[in-house]
Amino acid sequence: MGTQSLIDTAKAMMAEGKGLLAMDESMGTISGRFEKEGISNTVENRRAYRELIVTTPGIGECLNGAILFDETVHQSTKDGVPFIEVLERAGVIPGIKVDEGAVDMAGFPGEKITQGLDKLRERLADYRGMRLRFAKWRAVITIGKGIPTQGCIHANTHALARYAALCQEAGIVPIVEPEVIMEGDHDLETCFAVSQDVQRQLFVQLEDQRVDLRGLILKPNMVLPGLESATQASTDEVARATVLCLLGSVPTTVGGVAFLSGGQSPQVATEHLNAMHVQYGKILPWPLTFSFSRAIQDPELHYWKGKAENVQGAQQIMYNRMRLNDLARKGEYAAEMEKEYA
Ligand code: 13P
Repeated sequence: MGTQSLIDTAKAMMAEGKGLLAMDESMGTISGRFEKEGISNTVENRRAYRELIVTTPGIGECLNGAILFDETVHQSTKDGVPFIEVLERAGVIPGIKVDEGAVDMAGFPGEKITQGLDKLRERLADYRGMRLRFAKWRAVITIGKGIPTQGCIHANTHALARYAALCQEAGIVPIVEPEVIMEGDHDLETCFAVSQDVQRQLFVQLEDQRVDLRGLILKPNMVLPGLESATQASTDEVARATVLCLLGSVPTTVGGVAFLSGGQSPQVATEHLNAMHVQYGKILPWPLTFSFSRAIQDPELHYWKGKAENVQGAQQIMYNRMRLNDLARKGEYAAEMEKEYA
């Protein structure tokens, strides 16, 4: 698979007016989300939930791509159509989460390292054979007393770059996700400084590993004060800090930038994305969109509750949420639309 095909896939993933959906919750994560809604975490419930998502009418009008979990890529609708095929027919590019989760980092209390590089080359070849055209790897960076350390940032960005190189070798576009998490009482400035440090080191590592940035998507956190911070920030402050951070660390050749939502409410995540486009849309050197999980799925999962009779309503809720994010991606969203789309 040549360079041009990676560039073409990255372009298609970032095509105008749409975004990406992260529906790649691992077993542990989906179990927590189901439990919150009183849904039992069975194989069939997970299958039914993913069927609800991929068969949402109009999904292809809203999304360029969807990130799946390993279990999901082997599953089908109750009528026997593989989920990968359902997405392809709708014009949504299927991708796959390939990291194996963040675990405690040896010798670095309070910090995490993402695992999954062993046998990754073989797994990527299998996934490419299943027509999965892009992948995702998430690194977790925590802000706290004395952390993040340079040791943790170095280890995680190095792993992200090695993963990205293996993806491109396999003809798969890597989404690199260095997530500075929201937990903590730090302020906006601290999140800015840490995010910029992490992103800058990531691009040094990517260059060292000879990754072609044109065939790569960055999935960053927005720059936000910690959840327990005494001073919260306005929408415009978040938009400004996030865009300035990216402009200072992300090379212009990168295929695109697609945000995680990180625990922001659906409306707040949409407002932040919209403000970035309203204020800076004309000067951004790369396409900038969403790759949310919770900020798209939470309302629809809450409505569904695992009940067949709620599927249609849940799909409508999800469609509307994606539509609002599509508008935000163009800087055309307004808070009053929430009522109209409710
Ligand atoms: P959230 O949007 O819920 O942060 O999830 C994005 C994601 O893909 C995490 O890896």
